[in-house]
Amino acid sequence: MISVQDIIQDLEGLIQELEQSLGQASSFQELEKIRVEYLGRKGRLAQVMSRLPELSKEDRPQAGKKANEIKNKLHELFEEKKESLEEQKNRLDLATFDPTIPGRNPDVGSLHPITRVIEDICSVFIQLGFDVVSGPEVENDFYNFEALNIPPEHPARDMQDTLYITDKILLRTHTSPLQIRTMLKRKPPVAAVAPGKVYRRDSDLTHTPMFHQIEGFLVDTQVSMADLRGTLTAFLHRIFGPKTRVRFRPSFFPFTEPSAEVDISCVMCGGEGKIDGQTCRVCKETGWVEILGCGMIDPAVFAMVDYDPEKYSGFAFGLGVERIAMLKYGIGDLRMFFENDIRFLQQFV
Ligand code: PHE
Repeated sequence: MISVQDIIQDLEGLIQELEQSLGQASSFQELEKIRVEYLGRKGRLAQVMSRLPELSKEDRPQAGKKANEIKNKLHELFEEKKESLEEQKNRLDLATFDPTIPGRNPDVGSLHPITRVIEDICSVFIQLGFDVVSGPEVENDFYNFEALNIPPEHPARDMQDTLYITDKILLRTHTSPLQIRTMLKRKPPVAAVAPGKVYRRDSDLTHTPMFHQIEGFLVDTQVSMADLRGTLTAFLHRIFGPKTRVRFRPSFFPFTEPSAEVDISCVMCGGEGKIDGQTCRVCKETGWVEILGCGMIDPAVFAMVDYDPEKYSGFAFGLGVERIAMLKYGIGDLRMFFENDIRFLQQFV
């Protein structure tokens, strides 16, 4: 049978041995090794403690108490050493830290040119009192066509032009469904712009299956074509400069009556049609470039959203963001916007 004295001696011996080992340790790795050796689950302390049950019942409490004291002491010694190693390391770090080394510049991203143009355009309309609204890219036939007075035989409804998901569900082909969605939710006066992605079955040099549009519309009492012209002219002057000339050409859209297309004087040749005697490739010598479609909202659309056409009138317009970005920044190739070439994108920082 072992005696209490034996155990106590062993326990006290541990203190001396640990002090010695710690005195020699100079790194955190060594320190960890020592911790496992003495304080680990199968370490020296645990070994001594595992012998406690061999003691007589009367001796056990005394030995147990001592064992706890020793355990605390060992932990204390260990923590002290750890702190002093940490202090040493901090001093070393400071001594080797060179504050004169130039810092590393973090890589900062920038907004995509399309995002910038969308923000520029929306901010002009926000200043004119318009709200910004948005809606789903996966639309149903009702919002994309039917409510916009687009008849069943209209070519836009053709499988050739529209990306259908089912018979009645499709990828929106324009942002005009936002006119319907917004008017169904609000009563006049309303004025909103709706930027977003639209999809068409089209892919060549100047068309991509996805591109961006911004829809705008305003409904109130006594809104006239003059309001439409004034608003769009002010907007185009803000985006392309006050010298830009603006003209309205009669056109047709099923959801506006009358309808117009808007041209601005060519940003490339200033409306001359030629640059240094050469044909301007942007306006093909006409001096004008088409920039958006617009018109007075058709009473048939008002009927769909339960607005009284006798009381209210309004205008709407839709524009292609990529087209405006190309003209504004003089970009010749539509695909540039979608290739995500850093050398291209960096120019818009
Ligand atoms: N939605 C039409 C298009 O995509 C543009 C438009 C919008 C025309 C609003 C008139 C009024 O071509």
